Amino acid sequence: MCGIVGYIGKRNAAPILMDGLEKLSYRGYDSAGIAVIGAGDRITVRKAKGRLENLAALLAASPAEGCVGIGHTRWATHGEPSDLNAHPHTDVKGGIAVVHNGIIENHEALRRFLTAEGAVFVSQTDTEVIAHLLKHLYRGDMKEALLRAIAMLEGSYALGVVCDAEPGVLYCARNDSPLVVGFRDGEGFIASDIPALLSHTRDVLFLEDKEIARLDLGGVSVYDAYGTPSHHELFHVDWDIDSAEKGGYAHYMLKEIHEQPEALQKTFAPRRPQTPGVYEWLPLSPEEARRLRKISIVACGTAYHAGVIGKYAIERLARLPVEAEIASEYRYRDPIIGEEELFIAVSQSGETADTLAALREAKRRGARVMAVCNVVGSTIAREVGEVGTLYTYAGPEIAVASTKAYMTQVEMMVMLAIALGELRGTLPRQEADRMLRELAQLPAKAHQALESEPLLQRFAAGASQKKHVFFVGRGLDYALSMEAALKLKEVSYIFSEAYAAGELKHGPIALLQPGRLVVATITQPALLEKTISNLREVTARGATVVAVCRESLVEKVEGSVEQIIPIPDADDLLAPLLAVIPLQLFAYCMAVSRGCDVDKPRNLAKSVTVE
Ligand code: G6P
Repeated sequence: MCGIVGYIGKRNAAPILMDGLEKLSYRGYDSAGIAVIGAGDRITVRKAKGRLENLAALLAASPAEGCVGIGHTRWATHGEPSDLNAHPHTDVKGGIAVVHNGIIENHEALRRFLTAEGAVFVSQTDTEVIAHLLKHLYRGDMKEALLRAIAMLEGSYALGVVCDAEPGVLYCARNDSPLVVGFRDGEGFIASDIPALLSHTRDVLFLEDKEIARLDLGGVSVYDAYGTPSHHELFHVDWDIDSAEKGGYAHYMLKEIHEQPEALQKTFAPRRPQTPGVYEWLPLSPEEARRLRKISIVACGTAYHAGVIGKYAIERLARLPVEAEIASEYRYRDPIIGEEELFIAVSQSGETADTLAALREAKRRGARVMAVCNVVGSTIAREVGEVGTLYTYAGPEIAVASTKAYMTQVEMMVMLAIALGELRGTLPRQEADRMLRELAQLPAKAHQALESEPLLQRFAAGASQKKHVFFVGRGLDYALSMEAALKLKEVSYIFSEAYAAGELKHGPIALLQPGRLVVATITQPALLEKTISNLREVTARGATVVAVCRESLVEKVEGSVEQIIPIPDADDLLAPLLAVIPLQLFAYCMAVSRGCDVDKPRNLAKSVTVE
């Protein structure tokens, strides 16, 4: 999704803006641009469709010099990806330039109004109305114009603004879209996300909704929607820029897959009970846990798939009904939720627009809310609050396709299930202790599971031209198959579909024929025989079956499938955490074999901050 950056200082802005955009490129984009204020206080805009290299080439041919500027990577929503629709957008005379992440919902009404006032629109974007609106409202102070504009804009935005009448000032504003501000040694920075600021400063502040910030060489001033100065504590970023760089791996996705043992360890260690039965990190008393009547886990994409595993785990251990639901559906379906119900938002970024809206809806209806989130200081984490946010410690995840964040989300779900089970008296202490011991062993087993990589590379080399892949499993293995299918289609563009193995014969079996590839996940002993019968139905139609299979079950599966990819043994609820590793590696190797842009798949965005 769009990324914005801004710089004010004494250095040439363009290279700093380009570096920031590069750091945000993981968010997904289809065009990019910058605007800088240079000699004679004139704004120079350069923008180009496609990759940042195109913009870099344009800047090499016709440089944009100046010490104040804004930059943008655009993920098209209103209007096709093109040079013209790329940001920054300006007013008619080019004296005000704006970059924007989000969607202005009343842009059509504003466009009509501004056109009647003499504005001439050149792009199809919703953003362009902001530039014209600011021009219309400007009376010599951009802060005042911004405050008035914000009162008129409906929708979501993170904005960066420069204007030639105030050449030494950089402005920004936000509502529902992320924005981080940093300042150090006479230089100010704004960005959609922390990695773009880390090489400049570790002390940042997060703007709240409808706040604006004014940056000049002297520092940063923040104002609320009424123009009253507001105070912000600085947030110190304690993770390193190195953890957001590739560190010798060919792709971020591969690096992040390999970081999973460490991510598992970091997420579990601080939550391992010091005293048996005491779960200090859980923001519920035993009494509150017992009184719960229902849990709703709401999320998007991969985080939703982690939520589905959470449903299985919590229902099994805590004997509590759990709904796992996609946020974009939840928010509009008039959900039944209220007191004595727990709503859990799961989000790597903590910025996904639909998940945030669903969370707000649940809060409005009186539910108790919690979040499982990977980004400290993100909007969802802040709306839920310190106590209710269960952070996953996966570290920054850069590849668009989520791997290590998913891993830790699932781990968090299992920990939650154990804690709730014990507090509710549905999981005996001994059983809880055994599972916790197994959780502690998981990182070492995840290392072992990573050893399947060469096998998967070879397999992918032979299978990469497949046009369709089915993923099947039962129970938790079905939940895992959903994630495996998503991973494959995201990064390799191969059509992939997940099916509950028992459901195959109700339709999809019609598609099975010689040459089709079916990937089965087999980690649940109780469902083994049933799954094997389903796989026989598949092989009888001539399709090829590859099985990711728990070591202790391999013997029973042999002979029923073409190839087995073994994973170490683990508790039934934990085995999916190991099985997902070869499935992620499979998607990765297939994408590499097909020459795909693994870390930045087409059309996808890492952080989906629009509906
Ligand atoms: C996008 C990303 C996915 C992610 C989903 C939810 O679609 O490409 O990788 O799973 O958003 O994101 P969240 O940050 O809320 O987990």
